[in-house]
Amino acid sequence: MYHEPVLLKESIEGLNIKKGGIYVDATYGGGGHSFGILKKIGKGSLIAFDQDEDALKNKPDDERLVLINQNFRFMRNFLKLYRAVPVDGILADLGVSSHQIDEPERGFSVRFEGNLDLRMSRKKSLTAAQVVNNYSVTRLKDIFLKYGELSNGAKIAFEIEKARIRKYIQTTRQLQDATLKCAPKGMENKFYAKLFQALRIEVNDELGSLMELLDQSVEMLKPGGRLVIISYHSLEDRIIKNFLKSGNFEGRISKDFFGNPEVSFRMITKKPVIPGDEEVAMNSRARSAKLRIAEKL
Ligand SMILES: C[S@@+](CC[C@H](N)C(=O)[O-])C[C@H]1O[C@@H](n2cnc3c(N)ncnc32)[C@H](O)[C@@H]1O
Repeated sequence: MYHEPVLLKESIEGLNIKKGGIYVDATYGGGGHSFGILKKIGKGSLIAFDQDEDALKNKPDDERLVLINQNFRFMRNFLKLYRAVPVDGILADLGVSSHQIDEPERGFSVRFEGNLDLRMSRKKSLTAAQVVNNYSVTRLKDIFLKYGELSNGAKIAFEIEKARIRKYIQTTRQLQDATLKCAPKGMENKFYAKLFQALRIEVNDELGSLMELLDQSVEMLKPGGRLVIISYHSLEDRIIKNFLKSGNFEGRISKDFFGNPEVSFRMITKKPVIPGDEEVAMNSRARSAKLRIAEKL
């Protein structure tokens, strides 16, 4: 299976779908969430994005669906091109698909030996191998600290520097070997997961794309339109939470002349929705998911 959709029922309900409406699925993947939307929109339409060309083979023959092989950071341009503005709802299920993780040659999994690639879109030129072999030690340290929340980022960068002088680091296993000394004993897999998360965020500019999507959603949504976002790590969730609550990424609420907060969204979920034990037991990739739902004011 290409991908098992996470929090499917909760996220589709969160969109509060109206028959005949226009909806966006920013992260099509295997199309699980899109199928859920298509079931409910009647004669409406769905504009979907995925930057991975592999997702295109999951497109059903349905004239209500347009699937665009682009980064969702270009959502505004494409919605205007398709004369689909304003929209009734936007859904984003961030991160990578099971299909991407399960393909060893793409380097997303710490379990298999694979190329140090980590690109969601193979049209992009920057790979994780280039980051690891060409970035300065200072820049690598910052990436590990900021995107992997690895407090020993400086040591990791130093070990990488030592290894890459001897030999170009080409594979996931070579990177793991080079940084093994930095992993706390017994916590190696958790350490590598964070290390790879940091590289993946850098290679795909994941936080930059997310911020652009959030910014554009204010302009693209109708009043009363819903924004439904599933994230898988705290860096993304913090950005989403701050933006929905305050309209900026720092979480600083500004007030108008009358003292009312100047915000664009009303939170539908006060706390993030997380998958139940049953879903996690059936699909371990759901375990870190957090769903937030907000309504455009
Ligand atoms: C978790 S999967 C989505 C799975 C989908 N909801 C389903 O049910 O099959 C995330 C997908 O979003 C895509 N993606 C991630 N970031 C993206 C971005 N900035 N622009 C476009 N696609 C993106 C990935 O390539 C991946 O296929």
